[in-house]
Amino acid sequence: MSRTVIRGGLVITAADEVHADVLIEAGRVVALAAHDSEFTAGWSASAGRVIDAAGKYVIPGGVDAHTHMELPFGGTFASDTFETGSRAAAWGGTTTIIDFAVQSVGHSLREGLDTWHAKADAQCAIDYGFHMILADVNEDSLKEMDVLVEEGVTSFKLFMAYPGVFYSDDGKILRAMQRGAANGGLIMMHAENGIAIDVLVEQALAAGRTDPRYHGEVRHALLEAEATHRAIKLAQVAGSPLYVVHVSAEEALAELATARDKGLNVFGETCPQYLFLSTDNLAEPDFEGSKYVCSTPLRPKEHQAALWRGLRTNDLQVVSTDHCPFCFSGQKELGRGDFSKIPNGLPGVENRMDLLHQAVVDGHISRRRWIEIAAATPARMFGLYPRKGTIAPGADADIVIYDPHAEQVISAETHHMNVDYSAYEGKRVTGQVETVLSRGEPVIDGKAFVGRAGHGQYTPRGTCQYLI
Ligand code: URP
Ligand code: ZN
Ligand code: ZN
Ligand code: ZN
Repeated sequence: MSRTVIRGGLVITAADEVHADVLIEAGRVVALAAHDSEFTAGWSASAGRVIDAAGKYVIPGGVDAHTHMELPFGGTFASDTFETGSRAAAWGGTTTIIDFAVQSVGHSLREGLDTWHAKADAQCAIDYGFHMILADVNEDSLKEMDVLVEEGVTSFKLFMAYPGVFYSDDGKILRAMQRGAANGGLIMMHAENGIAIDVLVEQALAAGRTDPRYHGEVRHALLEAEATHRAIKLAQVAGSPLYVVHVSAEEALAELATARDKGLNVFGETCPQYLFLSTDNLAEPDFEGSKYVCSTPLRPKEHQAALWRGLRTNDLQVVSTDHCPFCFSGQKELGRGDFSKIPNGLPGVENRMDLLHQAVVDGHISRRRWIEIAAATPARMFGLYPRKGTIAPGADADIVIYDPHAEQVISAETHHMNVDYSAYEGKRVTGQVETVLSRGEPVIDGKAFVGRAGHGQYTPRGTCQYLI
């Protein structure tokens, strides 16, 4: 049986930081013990592979609970396939992604799920699971939710935005929440008042305000806060937990904090783009601002401090990427002269672990909190723990050796995502992935990708393990 030993690193989990050696067998962590102690004697001699991690961090692989590989949007498709996107994720120290399968209006959840399996199966370099986007809440799709939960698709995204595409009205949302309360499915909410936003879009375009920066203005922070408030109340009435995706506005975060102070099972996710980028980027000239068009939108810089505080106080529990890349050339350009036609989404699946490590360096969060928000809590939230999100006996050996002192400059020249720009072009970060194991198999080894498409397995999930 193939054994791997990781020697001499600082093992960091959400719970602990210990100088320990890690023994891996058959793709799983078998044991951790004090470095070079009597307990680890003989481990290296019997191992097929010994990884020297002296001076490095040994961390659980990142769990990115929000990606959109090949998502059809605005007449085009997100530019990363499961093959290119999962490989880029591995380069960045992420070993599990949860992507969103999409139900099309007039079709079943099963059809949507089958379509996403056809895109992903045998393509991924790392393990993956699916959430389901509910675009058409009706008697049949509500019944199907029960079946999907049993099969391991245990979370369902609803949209208060995008009328005519993914939008659900309050009645449909309430029904889905009631069903989730009964079957254990976690409702994920895109909380923006899309009906009001569409009025503001129409008015802006009619007044000749067509540049990318108006995307940020019409998607008002108060319309994120209002929708967040409404989603919380609907969840309360339905008796269901609620997970609000891509929180960007301080006012929306305040709604989550109020609900959590009442002891409600209300959770929030934010993304690196809201922590590191702002409306200044949306206002970049020569249509460069289109590179930063996503929804919820980037906010004025002042919101960032509130988001960091939310991550420290646990009013926000998860940082995912909402990775949804569109090339500047040919894709973002669809919206020249009309910001509402710019496909929404930013690349980032490769950058998340590094940017959050930079947040450790900058003093925003601790090392253990880094692992908590990027690996452990997403795994618990979406029913993957302790198989994913930690380093403990029995866990999958999804492990990253991380060099906390390496310096790098983020750039489209060197990234591995299939997109022609980086949202973080030129940003210096301290820290870099050195080695990535997925179920004990090397995927990244120094500067080389040594994994393969199809190594990544579809991973059915349990229900939310984070409820109060
Ligand atoms: O702009 C974004 N976030 N695009 C992806 C779809 C979504 O709403 O998450
Ligand atoms: Zn159909
Ligand atoms: Zn969304
Ligand atoms: Zn998304």
